[in-house]
Amino acid sequence: GSRPEGTGAPVRRTLGVCYYPEHWPEAVWTQDAARMVDAGLAWVRIAEFAWSRLEPAPGDLRWEWLDRAVETLGTAGLRVVLGTPSATPPRWMLARHPDMLAHDRQGRPRGFGSRRHYCFSHDGYRGEAVRLAALMGERYGRHPHVHAWQIDNEYGCHDTAVSYSSAALAAFRLWCAERYGSIEALNEAWGGVFWSQEYGAFEEVGLPILAVTEPNPAHALAFQRFSSDQVARFNRAQVEALRPLTDAPLLHDYMGHEISFDHWETARDLDVAAWNAYPIGFLSDRVDTTPERRARYLRRGDPDMQAFHHDLYRAAGRGRLWITELQPGPVNWAPWNPAPAPGMVRLWAWEAFAHGAEAVLPFRWRQLPFGQEQLHAGLLRPDSAPAPALAEIARVAREIEDAPEVAPAAAPAALVFDYASAWMWEIQPQGRDFDYRALCLSAYRGLRRLGLSVDVVPPGADLAPYRLVLAPGLATLPAAFPPAAPTILGPRAGARTEEFRIPVPLPPGLPGLDCRVAFVESLPPSAAMLVEGGGRVVRWREELEGEAEAVLRLADGRPLAMRDGDTTYLGGWLDDEAMGLLLARACAEAGIATLDLPADVRVREAGPHRFWFNHGPETVRTHGIELPPAGVHREER
Ligand code: GAL
Repeated sequence: GSRPEGTGAPVRRTLGVCYYPEHWPEAVWTQDAARMVDAGLAWVRIAEFAWSRLEPAPGDLRWEWLDRAVETLGTAGLRVVLGTPSATPPRWMLARHPDMLAHDRQGRPRGFGSRRHYCFSHDGYRGEAVRLAALMGERYGRHPHVHAWQIDNEYGCHDTAVSYSSAALAAFRLWCAERYGSIEALNEAWGGVFWSQEYGAFEEVGLPILAVTEPNPAHALAFQRFSSDQVARFNRAQVEALRPLTDAPLLHDYMGHEISFDHWETARDLDVAAWNAYPIGFLSDRVDTTPERRARYLRRGDPDMQAFHHDLYRAAGRGRLWITELQPGPVNWAPWNPAPAPGMVRLWAWEAFAHGAEAVLPFRWRQLPFGQEQLHAGLLRPDSAPAPALAEIARVAREIEDAPEVAPAAAPAALVFDYASAWMWEIQPQGRDFDYRALCLSAYRGLRRLGLSVDVVPPGADLAPYRLVLAPGLATLPAAFPPAAPTILGPRAGARTEEFRIPVPLPPGLPGLDCRVAFVESLPPSAAMLVEGGGRVVRWREELEGEAEAVLRLADGRPLAMRDGDTTYLGGWLDDEAMGLLLARACAEAGIATLDLPADVRVREAGPHRFWFNHGPETVRTHGIELPPAGVHREER
């Protein structure tokens, strides 16, 4: 199928900043606001952690300071994004609801003294969060300076989406009763006969922790699904409180690398999907990469990691994407915290815009001299002098003025991303380094290295408009698979049922494709296998059998990918070289134009424009364009 040139309405690009008026004397608010406007900022995001100042004691509501802050910022010309502060319940909340704490995998309550210590299943706490959201909505829902709302902050941060509290246990048993109907059905679904794990009643079902060895994978998956539903439910409760009180868009700020709940699900209740981008913080220990790449991109971040999340969350927001936080300098929370190379903050902002972002907000305005994040840079230093990122952001603000608004481009390729698959392969990786995110990122990188713009889409998405679809690791195939588009599935696609069983007939079970996975094996780093034509299979390999055409083979001749018509099943984890060759061939067959790009360069199409980015430390000349380090170039397509 062919796609229109652009999708959706033209996007107005804006900048903003995260600000915490409660941290600073009121005397500086006016000057801060004026400096923000001077720098070309349009948005200011406030209040998402301010509960102890909004309600210092139960029912003792203090709006006056927030009224003045909103007024000061709004009068200066800024549009306010108001956050509900449910990520930081104040100390008195614990006295009121002593059992509201989330519990960790050891079953221990998490302590007060940072944030996100609540359990999503605690009805009392959810009620408190809804109460405050409604009060804020009543006061600011139609306020002329409040133009967007953020609910809570970074669900899942600090490993908090999943809780093993008694509130969670009680709610999980109800959830199981609802899902399975009878305890016999649960026993059957989970394969409880194995190791005599059968239950006599839902009241006997426990949490999948503290078992002697790995818990039953179906039990673990059910608990993960339940926990994800609890996040969506918690979020929805605040959405429902705010909806009648405001017409402004509601958003949540998701994280990078976070898979502990189904973001597609939560996002359905919201208007915008936002995420918080910390390119260098992530590279330090969250991105699955080589020591060489870690060193090369130390001050730049992985060239595909930010883009991947932009594309993921743009889809989650049904076209509406924000970057609610952008790394402005060294952060405080990674194992090591180097400063970004000059120009990278600008590059990251432009990259977000090229991927369709409406707003980019560096975190935070001024570095705070106290508290846990005192070593986290801002746009200003603690003494209010400009930090390096301020000038870069002000430059982007000027550049936006000259860059026309465009509708996001229609991407030729789609990558299916599925949270349940992430959970399944985390529950039973089978090889130490089998990581679903890394597998998806390698496919995404392969497409981007060929110059393609990519949509990251949910498993149920309409895939017919795409000219190439990739579905690596898609554990359970949606009913409509394979789609009516050239598709490469696998490895580990169609490999489990919804209840974590190996399907029989054996995977991938694609109608029309005579190809079966006879067995799988995981490979330590020393055991990569050569692929015919170039590159290697790493980490994971499947022995394929059947009569379908083998379109890729191991060097020893055994089939590695098999195909029928538009559908190809790939039975291994390819390294970058083998992936590049496979995708180049698929693009040629699908008639998708590709680009030969230097290793550090990425492009993204945005309406009539193509943006070029240099993520590397050296000047690059390519396709008649010179890109200095951190270089950004916009051309007409
Ligand atoms: C984010 C969070 C912010 C701040 C920031 C520091 O995870 O949303 O509140 O903590 O990290 O980098």
